[in-house]
Amino acid sequence: MFTLLLASHNQDKAKELKALIQGINVHLLTLNDFPDIVSTSEDQDTICANAMKKAFEASQQTGLISLADDTGLFIKALNGEPGVYSSRFAGEQCSYKDNRIKVLELMKGIQNRYAEFRTCVALSAPDGIISYKEGILEGYITTEEYGTNGFGYDSIFMPLTSSKTYAEMTDIEKNAISHRAKAIEAILPIIREIIALS
Ligand code: IMP
Repeated sequence: MFTLLLASHNQDKAKELKALIQGINVHLLTLNDFPDIVSTSEDQDTICANAMKKAFEASQQTGLISLADDTGLFIKALNGEPGVYSSRFAGEQCSYKDNRIKVLELMKGIQNRYAEFRTCVALSAPDGIISYKEGILEGYITTEEYGTNGFGYDSIFMPLTSSKTYAEMTDIEKNAISHRAKAIEAILPIIREIIALS
């Protein structure tokens, strides 16, 4: 069976990626299956450049076709912040909660609460990037946290088309509409093609 490496140590993202890819016949591994691998420094200026760097370095180190995801929350009133810095918005060692508190503080009293969640997924072989695709979901930043499911900024992001935050949705509801689902949907035909050729 074809083996695909999900180039992530983040269990929350890996869980969603696995659910989104489950329709195809692949053996999925994550970076947790390779404890000695050197972690990629996410130091690029865009989420797509970070995703490509993560996928390429994982593929080079393992010899496997690798899929990496990089995600950012882009808030209009904050000039696109936290954007590519979403994971360490409240500081280098911050928690998901610290990041949400910082966003809610900065957004206090702001009327225009429009934001976009964007995920870029990149697919790489050891000798280079095969493809990358972006998925975007438009929404609003809520004025307080709602819901306890999910991770990261889920409890403060409400899609335009929903009356629930991501954290008030079931996993199935989030995976039906999310930024990550759209990115995976766009790259799945390429993964299928590679499997067919292998
Ligand atoms: P990264 O792609 O791991 O760099 O993620 C950037 C930041 O966005 C991290 O703080 C994640 O917790 C957060 N994040 C990534 N994906 C999601 C999501 O689907 N919902 C909520 N937060 C997310």
